[in-house]
Amino acid sequence: MFGFWKTWKALEARGIMGINRRNADYVLKYNKRSLYPIVDDKIITKERAIAAGIHVPELYGVISTEKEIDKLDEIIGERSDFVIKPAQGAGGDGILVIADRFEGRYRTVSGKIISHEEIEHQISSILTGLYSLGGHRDRALIEYRVIPDQIFKSISYEGVPDIRIIVLMGYPVMAMLRLPTRQSGGKANLHQGAIGVGVDLATGLTLRGTWLNNIITKHPDTTNAVDGVQLPYWDGFMKLAAGCYELCGLGYIGVDMVLDQEKGPLILELNARPGLNIQIANDCGLTLRTHAVEARLEELKARGVTETVEERMAFVQEMFGHIPPVEG
Ligand SMILES: Nc1ncnc2c1ncn2[C@@H]1O[C@H](COP(=O)(O)OP(=O)(O)O)[C@@H](O)[C@H]1O
Ligand SMILES: [Mg+2]
Repeated sequence: MFGFWKTWKALEARGIMGINRRNADYVLKYNKRSLYPIVDDKIITKERAIAAGIHVPELYGVISTEKEIDKLDEIIGERSDFVIKPAQGAGGDGILVIADRFEGRYRTVSGKIISHEEIEHQISSILTGLYSLGGHRDRALIEYRVIPDQIFKSISYEGVPDIRIIVLMGYPVMAMLRLPTRQSGGKANLHQGAIGVGVDLATGLTLRGTWLNNIITKHPDTTNAVDGVQLPYWDGFMKLAAGCYELCGLGYIGVDMVLDQEKGPLILELNARPGLNIQIANDCGLTLRTHAVEARLEELKARGVTETVEERMAFVQEMFGHIPPVEG
């Protein structure tokens, strides 16, 4: 392991994107304000995705008012596993992943036993806006609990790993696999303590990892190597991510996807302000790649043409892919 800042400095020379540049040159430039609700509200994202024929975890129900909390039992029905989350949450906060029932109570994915009253209290906190962007009143959604594909068993510690791809104007520019750890409580958010692992855009092979601002090659809980793992359905994930531009109209987004054991690839959420740590996990700066895509867009514009999802994928895989495996 070596220091985060040393790494960041070394990356500066290689086109690293800082927060100011991301906001000014990408988020503000490519993301129309009026389209934000599509990505900032997970219920709206789901509706959009379903309308576009893109698979998402099934929505069991929505609770919008204190009074509707009474509907919880009806929404859950006989199910023993489900997820409750704030529609406008971020960073994994306020999410409750219920894996089982236990003697009239519930068991979370990390093994904590909680009562029905505690769940109701959690929903009430969600409604008041405790977890929402800007503290606005929010809605709680109850959805299908994703069971990760077996492939992740060896490299993950409970919970659901997700795949994040940053997409500029429909062109995937960088990818990362995020693995929950004991510390992250089954969530794949880096700020909760999950690991980010870079992914080769062309092959879907994992590169090195970053955890709590350190570079790693082994999962801290399982000690299994996190690099050199072949992610399944890779082109499918790339295609799904590239198509999200048409889905939401925002030009600079982070697309979060999961691989369910039975349902296959699903879109979990879209982010209009994707984080920058993905650069550490890929040992590559984002601007190197975003500039290449912007140059491509200029060139296509001059020729008066646009590219299909497949053409965009081929371009980025040829341009940014086939990264040699990590040394040592
Ligand atoms: N339906 C689900 N089933 C299982 N785990 C989930 C589910 N939804 C979210 N999670 C876990 O919580 C994390 C954060 O969820 P997400 O919907 O991306 O919300 P946020 O905006 O807070 O990041 C995911 O990366 C995943 O690990
Ligand atoms: Mg997320």
